[in-house]
Amino acid sequence: MILKGKTAIITGASDGLGEAVAFGLSREGVNLALIARRRDRLAKIKKQIKGVKVEVYPCDLKDIHQIKQTVKRIIVDFINVDVLLNIAGIWQKKMPVEEIEEQIISDVIATNLTGLIQITRLVLPVLKKQDEAAVINVSSTSGYKIPPGQSVYSASKWGVRGFTEVIREDLRETNVKVSGIYQAGMKTGLFFKTGEKFAPGVFEKFMEPKDLAAVIVFMLARPKGIWLEEVRVNYK
Ligand SMILES: NC(=O)c1ccc[n+]([C@@H]2O[C@H](COP(=O)([O-])OP(=O)(O)OC[C@H]3O[C@@H](n4cnc5c(N)ncnc54)[C@H](OP(=O)(O)O)[C@@H]3O)[C@@H](O)[C@H]2O)c1
Repeated sequence: MILKGKTAIITGASDGLGEAVAFGLSREGVNLALIARRRDRLAKIKKQIKGVKVEVYPCDLKDIHQIKQTVKRIIVDFINVDVLLNIAGIWQKKMPVEEIEEQIISDVIATNLTGLIQITRLVLPVLKKQDEAAVINVSSTSGYKIPPGQSVYSASKWGVRGFTEVIREDLRETNVKVSGIYQAGMKTGLFFKTGEKFAPGVFEKFMEPKDLAAVIVFMLARPKGIWLEEVRVNYK
C-alpha cells in the first residue's frame, strides 16, 4: 500500500504501542484519527505530530454509544478511511480466576475484545469503499499460548485471534486485508497500570514499542502482491 495520503484509525493511540505507531505512520505521510480515553495525552501527541492531518477522539471503547459517535465523527472529518489499527488493550494482573474482581473481568473483555469487534463492525463499510484497505488487530502471545494466571486476559486475546481469523476469511475476496499480531512483552506501562510486578531482569528484556511499530508500518507498506496474514514477534 502506498501510505502517503492514506488515513488510519488507531485505537490505544495515547500510550505505548499505539502512540509509537502514530508517530511511525505520520512519518510515512498517513493522516491519523487517534482514539483513547485520555484527552490530554491525545492532545499532546497531536501537537507533536507535524505534516499530516491528525484528529483526536477521546472515547471509551467499553461504551458502544461512544464508539458509534466516534466513528461517525471520524467519517465526517476524514470521509475516507483506509486502515483500522485495533491496538487498545488493558492487562489483567496475574492471579487465579476466582480471585479476579467481577469488574475487571468485564473491563478486560469489553476493552480488548467487545470494543475491538464493535469498532471493526462500524468501520468496515468505509474500508470496503477504498481500492485497498487493511485491518490489523493486536492480540498477544497470550492469544495462542496458555499463560498461567492470565485466564481472562488470555480469553480476550484468544477471542481477538478467533475474530481476526474469521473476518480475514470472510473478507478474503474483498479489498480489505486483515491481519493479527501476536507479540511477546513490550516495554510499556500496560502491566504497571494494574500493579503487576516482574522478577528482576524480566521487563528489561522486553521489546521497544517503536520496534514493533516499525513492523506494523512495514505490514501496511509491504510490496504489492503480498500480505502478512499473521505476525508473531518475540524479543531477542
Ligand atoms: N505491553 C506488552 O507487553 C504487550 C504484549 C502483548 C500484547 N500487548 C497488547 O498490545 C496492545 C497495546 O498495549 P501497550 O503495551 O501499548 O499498552 P499501554 O501502553 O497501556 O496502552 C494501551 C492503550 O489502550 C488505551 N485504552 C485502554 N483502555 C481503553 C478504553 N477502554 N477505551 C479506549 N482506549 C483504551 C489506552 O489509552 P487510555 O488509557 O488513554 O484510554 C492506551 O492508549 C494491547 O492490546 C495489549 O494487550 C501488549
